[in-house]
Amino acid sequence: MKKIFNFSAGPAVLPKAVLERAQAEMLDWHGSGMSVMEMSHRGKEFTGILEKTEADLRTLLAIPSNYKVLFLQGGAIAENAMIPLNLLNGKSADYAVTGAWSKRSVEDARAYGQIDIACNTEQSGFTHVPDFKSWQLNKDAAYVHICTNETINGVEFDGIPNTGDVPIVADMSSHILSRPIDVSKFGVIYGGAQKNIGPAGLCIVIVREDLLGSASKLTPAVFNWKTQAENQSMINTPATYSIYIAGLVFEWLLAQSGVAAIEQKNIAKANLFYDYVDNSDFYSNNIALNNRSRMNIPFRLRDESLNDAFLKGAEAQGLLQLKGHRIVGGMRASIYNAMPIEGIQALVDYMRQFASSH
Ligand SMILES: Cc1ncc(COP(=O)(O)O)c(C=O)c1O
Repeated sequence: MKKIFNFSAGPAVLPKAVLERAQAEMLDWHGSGMSVMEMSHRGKEFTGILEKTEADLRTLLAIPSNYKVLFLQGGAIAENAMIPLNLLNGKSADYAVTGAWSKRSVEDARAYGQIDIACNTEQSGFTHVPDFKSWQLNKDAAYVHICTNETINGVEFDGIPNTGDVPIVADMSSHILSRPIDVSKFGVIYGGAQKNIGPAGLCIVIVREDLLGSASKLTPAVFNWKTQAENQSMINTPATYSIYIAGLVFEWLLAQSGVAAIEQKNIAKANLFYDYVDNSDFYSNNIALNNRSRMNIPFRLRDESLNDAFLKGAEAQGLLQLKGHRIVGGMRASIYNAMPIEGIQALVDYMRQFASSH
């Protein structure tokens, strides 16, 4: 099999050990004679998988017992609508706009009530998270929404604002499980699975229990967090195979000694890349140093007429999916938990070689 390194922003690289295990268990899961894809979601085999998957996620993130974990469909974009439907309850909400994804969250939420902007860095090109002291926060808001890692712009929060009694709702799609977090500081944490968790089709919502129960009557049952929490995320058929793979990823993470250990590896990987770019006059990254993402690194060639040649040469060396998001351009290397440091080394070696030959 061809040796490649996959830098896609998502769906993204998964640990090889996880794919091999899924392959080995594909036709006959644990002697059941069935593939996980063929199992009833209410049967004892799958409910066992779901329970273990949730328990392992709780261990990895040290999720307190007063939080529910939901396994939903519709991705993070569906949650953009479900957050106001489940939480607004006639109030307003404050949104921090720090990149393309939080901007999209505002646009989606506006259909459901009053959305106020706590801060917006679009004018300066989405390159930093503004000092929390400058945010305009309303103490009567239903919640404050943030996107703690902007996948497209490469901007990551290095802390969270103090919002008093107003719960923080965080889109962590592209860096969940890459670093320890204090779940108790959040009201809701959500994320699409297809980056650090598993295949597309699954969205995880971690919600504090006291926030359940004030959903608008218009909320579809499958997206009513309280109803889903009371029904083990099974008011409809959940994304069973995606949940199974997520469970294997969680087992893999536990075998790596958990999230604090993975964070150390992620720091080393990101440093290797940023150090090279900062010492080169051929490439650049313009994100504020304290907000540089460890997971998604946009970078540009100083001479952008070389972009196609750069991508073609990278692909020839097995360095795949480095093209930047269409709204930002340039390049982007997404280096999730499953990307080994050898992948970053291979990329840096290629970049050095490309710079010297151009
Ligand atoms: C931070 C963030 N939020 C939301 C989304 C949208 O997720 P989905 O396509 O799963 O709805 C993405 C997708 O890349 C993302 O990176």
